[in-house]
Amino acid sequence: MNDSTNRLTRRDLIASSLVTSLGAAALGGSAPAAAQPIGSMPATTKELWQWFRTQPVLDLQRTYLDVATAGPTLRAAMATEYRVRDSQSLNVASFAEGQWSAESTRIATAFGGFIGCDADEIVFTRGTGEALATVANGLDLNAGDEILTTNREHPAVISPWLLLARRRGIVVKQIDLPAPLSGPEQALGLFAGAVTDRTKVLMFSHVQYADGTLMPVQELCQFARSRNLISVVDGAQALGMLDFQLRDLGCDFYGTSFHKWLGGSNGTGMLYVRRDMLDRIWPSLPRGIDASPPVITPTQSNGHVGAPAALHKLGNIVPLSWAPLRGAEVALGFHQQVLRSRIEARIRELTIYARLRLQQLPGVEVLTPNRPGLWGGILSFHVPGRLASDITLGLVRGHRVFARDMQWPGKSEGAVRISLHAFNTHDEVDKLFAGLQQVLR
Ligand SMILES: Cc1ncc(COP(=O)(O)O)c(C=O)c1O
Repeated sequence: MNDSTNRLTRRDLIASSLVTSLGAAALGGSAPAAAQPIGSMPATTKELWQWFRTQPVLDLQRTYLDVATAGPTLRAAMATEYRVRDSQSLNVASFAEGQWSAESTRIATAFGGFIGCDADEIVFTRGTGEALATVANGLDLNAGDEILTTNREHPAVISPWLLLARRRGIVVKQIDLPAPLSGPEQALGLFAGAVTDRTKVLMFSHVQYADGTLMPVQELCQFARSRNLISVVDGAQALGMLDFQLRDLGCDFYGTSFHKWLGGSNGTGMLYVRRDMLDRIWPSLPRGIDASPPVITPTQSNGHVGAPAALHKLGNIVPLSWAPLRGAEVALGFHQQVLRSRIEARIRELTIYARLRLQQLPGVEVLTPNRPGLWGGILSFHVPGRLASDITLGLVRGHRVFARDMQWPGKSEGAVRISLHAFNTHDEVDKLFAGLQQVLR
């Protein structure tokens, strides 16, 4: 699709803001959980976003437009992490097994309240890659069984399946997703058309990392259920960007990271395991084995006794990752305090503004769909005849603007990706625009 067919019109803009506010209203905002107050938050919108900008550890002299690769950590999360490490070291001898169970339950309950699932359905991990590798390696799949996915999944998520294809002969089928996607029905049609009798798993991203396409998760999961397929969703780019509840999406497994859009400590994330899927997955890192199969429960080991069901079965890293998880919990409280719906609306507003600016640049072809409901805080673009890596280098060297260049199927120059969080500003978008004007001259 060429640039002119993917341009944003005034009608699209109005429809987009309606989607945002209706979506927020339909979901009823974020469910309350153990929020941790983060100092005093300004009441007016202008001051709120100025204050928000000061909350992560971020070099404000440069324009950071790459939270989709790595999110800056909130100061409050870092401070908590340090304090927790300090007290843990001081009290090293007095941590009883029961305390870990209680603490694991408390943290899982907080995250479950935030993301919309039960504490029993959460496994903490070091990120999305680990979460979804747990699924790939834990399901009983045989040679010839098919995994249906797309050609634009993240390497950390697709690689475990590709490895399984080599080791066990499962088949990984990757649908070519067009960019920009024309609508949810196009994605649904492509998946529906590629399912065979051998298909066992549907796997896709909630938000595509390469171009920010928001996939029709609910519809795809519904389709998967109607065909008796397991749905596995990569939510690395969604948590902290979008206001959603897992129970509305209807997936069987969902992996996400706390260290991107949420502002949590590095090396934290989670896997959601729908309650009735727990019997269908084997642990990858068992720390003990029960006497009676088929359910393996590492009941003997410290931190597992009395922990919520999924942590109990699949492995509980809370005793090992307590400090960063407490930091992530603070980040969760921060999003609740500001309001997830408000953060999403701000991200969308900045992204609309960035798209309008990009459209003013001749030769720039936006790859992210503009149709309402199909995009969030990520925009990718391509400039025919100009290497994406030259563009990002020119932006960083000449303008201190950090964007990401990426390879793109069928486009030898690659694409440039920007991601905008609520801490970014309209002035920063203007800096990107001015930088691109010079770099593309
Ligand atoms: C869509 C997507 N999935 C998975 C990952 C890997 O996430 P993690 O580093 O938390 O394992 C990323 C990282 O950028 C991503 O964008």
